[in-house]
Amino acid sequence: MEESLIILKPDSVQRGLIGDIISRIERRGLRIAALKMIWLDRELAERHYHEHKGKHFYEPLLKFITSAPVVVMLVHGPEAIAVLRAMMGATDSKQAAPGTIRGDYGLSNRHNLLHGSDSLQSAQREVALFFTPEEIHAYQRVVEPWADPDAEW
Ligand code: RTP
Ligand code: MG
Repeated sequence: MEESLIILKPDSVQRGLIGDIISRIERRGLRIAALKMIWLDRELAERHYHEHKGKHFYEPLLKFITSAPVVVMLVHGPEAIAVLRAMMGATDSKQAAPGTIRGDYGLSNRHNLLHGSDSLQSAQREVALFFTPEEIHAYQRVVEPWADPDAEW
């Protein structure tokens, strides 16, 4: 079981797509272990996107991600990081395949609806950035045995 930190970016919130994107994640069989709406300040945005510091899109990216509230979620599931990256589609929404979230709803490279962790290491770092242990809930969904890739029946 893996975990991924998902952020529904300000464009998802502004465009009224929170429910739709969460529904896609739930219907896939993944489990939401933590969820909240927050308004990122510059400091937290810098910490989250530190790997992009110095790139040409860094300042506009920080301006965008701090421009309105976001919804942050911790999502659990088998190979959750790769599964969610595939559901998200390519970073540049114009190139994202139809059927992906970015490919169905976006055309922008920057306003691309959501963030998802890109490795086990970044997931661990990002989860610690956004959630305290008390905010993370351990439970099972009844669908999990039915969606389990290792089920023997
Ligand atoms: P994210 O980190 O947000 O999940 O997105 P990603 O892995 O698909 O893309 P990444 O390369 O990590 O880029 C981080 C975010 O920066 C914005 N961006 N703008 N040329 C541009 O204007 C540009 N390139 C990237 C996007 O919001 C991207 O998601
Ligand atoms: Mg990234």
